[in-house]
Amino acid sequence: MTDHNDKRLPIGVFDSGVGGLTVLKAIREALPGENLIYLGDTARLPYGTKSPASIARYATQATAKLQQQGIKMLVVACNTASAVALQALREQMRPIPVLGVIEPGALAAVAACPGGAHLVLATEATVRLGAYSRAIAARDPAAQTREQACEMLVSLAEEGWTSGTIADAIVERYLNEAVQGSFTATSIILGCTHFPLLHESIAAIAGRDVQVVDSAQTTAVAVAGLLQDSAALNDSRQAGNLRLLATDGVTRFARVGGQFLGETLTAEDVELVDL
Ligand code: DGL
Repeated sequence: MTDHNDKRLPIGVFDSGVGGLTVLKAIREALPGENLIYLGDTARLPYGTKSPASIARYATQATAKLQQQGIKMLVVACNTASAVALQALREQMRPIPVLGVIEPGALAAVAACPGGAHLVLATEATVRLGAYSRAIAARDPAAQTREQACEMLVSLAEEGWTSGTIADAIVERYLNEAVQGSFTATSIILGCTHFPLLHESIAAIAGRDVQVVDSAQTTAVAVAGLLQDSAALNDSRQAGNLRLLATDGVTRFARVGGQFLGETLTAEDVELVDL
């Protein structure tokens, strides 16, 4: 049995695919001494169009895989899995702490625009569950929230088409759809781990008066706070190591994941695992 109080144990980070690497990158920058293990369930991506029952089953299996590796904390770096299954994953991992990305995203939005009108761009499953609307209302009853499903933005990010006329046209179409009626957004929340790659396009089309909120930084701050509070921060002066696991397509994972992580990866950097 691993002692989960061992500070040298890695932080486990899980996503349906490569998008969660944007969160992993922020954690690595904030906590360079921490060992990290990332699992991308690329065999079953996307989660965002699946039923809650399937998403919960996939998330449980991915979590069990990371639990077997021995981790001191789990970050669910997937908005869809956080919206559907966070409570169940907390039960599964107890007493190891589990953090999702929706609470930190809501916190960042409320801090950036108190009493604001927040437009959440997310997957179909996340929007259906309204988790962002609830998390924002709990923190700021004066805020308004609208959620817009943007499935094609996941494909654009996966394909690496994150700028140029095609990306801009698709982003514009979704933003126009979302702001019909009397709703004028003061903030846009990137409520899907893939969307930070389209940050520039979204910010340019939304215009200067709209704040674009990305939960990666706030999640990293929350991870640091949680480890600090439980005296579990790794105080080693050495740079932590990183293991990357994927359930399919290690070559694609390396190519696309490298863009999310901001460094060159090869297929040899990624371990193929079965859940
Ligand atoms: N990782 C998912 C999220 O953050 C997006 C991709 C998917 O649909 O699996 O919601």
